[in-house]
Amino acid sequence: MSVDPNKIPKITLSTGDQVPCIGMGTFGSDRFTPEEVSGAVAGAIRAGYRMFDCAACYGNEKEIGEVFQAAFEEGAVERKDLCIMTKVWNDMHRDVEKSCRQSIADLKCDYIDIFFIHWPFPNYHAPFCDVDSRNPDSRPFSVEEFMDTYRQCEALVDKGLIRHIGISNMTIPKLEAVIDKFRIRPVVCESEFHPCFQQQEIFDYLVAHDIQPIGYMPLGSPKRPERDIEEGDIADMELPEMKAIAQAHGVHPAIVCLKWAVQRGQIPIPFSIHEKNYISNLESTITEPLTEEEMNIIASLEKNNRLVKGQVFLWPGAKDWHDLWDEDGVIVK
Ligand SMILES: NC(=O)c1ccc[n+]([C@@H]2O[C@H](COP(=O)([O-])OP(=O)(O)OC[C@H]3O[C@@H](n4cnc5c(N)ncnc54)[C@H](OP(=O)(O)O)[C@@H]3O)[C@@H](O)[C@H]2O)c1
Repeated sequence: MSVDPNKIPKITLSTGDQVPCIGMGTFGSDRFTPEEVSGAVAGAIRAGYRMFDCAACYGNEKEIGEVFQAAFEEGAVERKDLCIMTKVWNDMHRDVEKSCRQSIADLKCDYIDIFFIHWPFPNYHAPFCDVDSRNPDSRPFSVEEFMDTYRQCEALVDKGLIRHIGISNMTIPKLEAVIDKFRIRPVVCESEFHPCFQQQEIFDYLVAHDIQPIGYMPLGSPKRPERDIEEGDIADMELPEMKAIAQAHGVHPAIVCLKWAVQRGQIPIPFSIHEKNYISNLESTITEPLTEEEMNIIASLEKNNRLVKGQVFLWPGAKDWHDLWDEDGVIVK
């Protein structure tokens, strides 16, 4: 079972480069070993995926790199046909080139297609730390610190180590504070986008500024880490409206989430190590689209249900996770 990659619709970035309208996530969390995730990446390349969302902090770039290398050597795919994305983690904001070179070495890919600043501040937390723990070194967003990190990314473009810069987990106030300062503009912004958390304002802002939105947790991440689960969270795929639309198309609600994402204009990056799931996710982009009425029904399912709250990045003195997201339209300090 595979999909001809040429049949997957393409998105044109502000630079004119084209990328697939769907990618594959690679965050195995604590549920899957690096080998299980890299095994899925190998299968996904065979299945027709050409875009992969990696990150230094996912702890599996070496294993994924073995898979890329084998695919290049076997001739399964050429380097130029893959869009490999990775991200600098918060503890490397002062040493971005080192992080980038490490990712390139681990991913065995010569250069990175899209290199993200994973979070817009250097606040670091140890993996699997308690959600209520506060790192005494954490601090609010700073334009100077962010731009220092961003300038290092621009230097990576100059050196040919990365092709494009991406930003992630931004808010409109933070974007407004830096949007005029870029020498090389970001081409994409990765944010949480799913039917119950559509973030219409930031979506529109990105589109208006020619920054392509990429949607993480496009299915509402039903098996996300404990720290990101709160009482009252809504399961997108369990909503009766989603189930009804899925039934009308004879598909799983996951497929409805992905069709909605692509038709709305964001690039979803769903994750699964299960072949049946990741293949049907890819196929969702070439099968019957949702009707306008179905798109409108999903538009009405917005519930402001942010799943990644980011509590672990709070600084001493911060009230709660809402402080990270500048909900009143100003950067919370
Ligand atoms: N930039 C950031 O800060 C950031 C933050 C979070 C995530 N991300 C990226 O976004 C990616 C996706 O997020 P995510 O993995 O948390 O959430 P997700 O893709 O919304 O959901 C993944 C879950 O959906 C299930 N699933 C996948 N395809 C399915 C299908 N066709 N039918 C039924 N169930 C299906 C999987 O179950 P099974 O395991 O049973 O298949 C898995 O539990 C990550 O891997 C990562 O690359 C980025």
